[in-house]
Amino acid sequence: MTQRVLTGITTTGTLHLGNYVGALRPAIIASQAPEVESFFFMADYHALIKCDEPDRIEASRLQIAATWIAAGLDTDRAVFYRQSDIPEIPELTWLLTCVTSKGQMNRAHAYKGAVDANLAAGEDPDAGITMGLYSYPILMAADILMFNAHRVPVGKDQVQHIEMARDVAQRFNHLFGRGKDFFVLPEAEVEAEMELLPGLDGRKMSKSYDNVIPLFEGGAKALREAIARIVTDSRLPGEPKDPDSSHLVSIFDAFATPEQRAAFRAELRAGLAWGEAKQRLFDQIDGQIGPMRARYEELMAHPERIEEILQRGAAKARAIAAPLLAELRHAVGLRPFKALQAKATPVAKAKSALPLFKQYREADGKFYFKLTAADGSLLLQSLAFEQGREAGQWVARLKQDGAAALAEAPVQRAPGVEEAALAAALAALQSAATEG
Ligand code: TRP
Repeated sequence: MTQRVLTGITTTGTLHLGNYVGALRPAIIASQAPEVESFFFMADYHALIKCDEPDRIEASRLQIAATWIAAGLDTDRAVFYRQSDIPEIPELTWLLTCVTSKGQMNRAHAYKGAVDANLAAGEDPDAGITMGLYSYPILMAADILMFNAHRVPVGKDQVQHIEMARDVAQRFNHLFGRGKDFFVLPEAEVEAEMELLPGLDGRKMSKSYDNVIPLFEGGAKALREAIARIVTDSRLPGEPKDPDSSHLVSIFDAFATPEQRAAFRAELRAGLAWGEAKQRLFDQIDGQIGPMRARYEELMAHPERIEEILQRGAAKARAIAAPLLAELRHAVGLRPFKALQAKATPVAKAKSALPLFKQYREADGKFYFKLTAADGSLLLQSLAFEQGREAGQWVARLKQDGAAALAEAPVQRAPGVEEAALAAALAALQSAATEG
């Protein structure tokens, strides 16, 4: 069976060499395998969560789209699109939002991290936190489930989001599938390489460490300048260097064949100057990304070409998304109007025919509960409780044990209600509970 592989890139900045080595290059190579259908998209709705600068959003989605194409993505083969061109995605987001538990979203790392930072700063826990950030994992689940992706290549920090997508997919399948699985349960695929490429200072290359080497932005000049800033030890020209303790060598490795790696190491051991080594590194990288950069610049000068590619991508994506969404709308009950089927009625009746416990607080500050019949008439009234919990515990016990709990319970039958009628109402609740 063909495997669907899907990943998105949040469009808030430009890409650096670490993104290329860790995400772009492996994704493009993987997309060439037979039996693989690839979906790559600009996560521009996600970008809006993190960024409220329209010009930056505009620039970034264009630059990132151009980058993928320039880096060699075959856009006839892969489905390549902007998230915001697929209106089915936010619609699915809402259907999923309605079956996602709030408690689970409370535990999402990104949200929890923001809350912890607020608490540490002595602020209100939710200061500056938008509903966008809070619901971020649900939008991401919709991205993935909309296309029934089997595998989702992501960085380590995103693994929890894929687990959440699995959870919500399972819940939706269970609630509405009637034996059919609408959604494939996706698997996260964490590329070892994704964590690998070090930045200028040897830590993982990341915007937040300000240690990145740009991919195309700034041209060959910016590449050369960044490489000049790679931190090395202070060994002089002619002194032997230890290649395996140098992150400059790790960066070289990411662009070299095994033979080239061995040759570079041998030269360093023989005393190659760091300045020379940086020139070799520049040549090595530029030899590969130079031709891509030329394509990138050409594309950036012709945004209409990128637009056209993305419009075709959106059409391909929507051809998949629209029929699935139609099915899902039907499954949850958003259906064209027609006369209600007879079989639907008893189900609805059985549900509404149940008696109902209700807990409340009176003006005296005390807590009470009551049981009403399906028609709303009063069956049972509790005495007053000091604590809401006590009332809740009695309700739980009556639901579980039924009439057997009546003798001890601090309750009164409503006037005119027979004991048998009350027992029958409690029994109905018990059996409804065991039916699930
Ligand atoms: N949240 C991802 C990130 O920041 C980007 C993203 C959005 C994504 N939707 C996705 C990744 C769906 C994989 C699948 O890296």
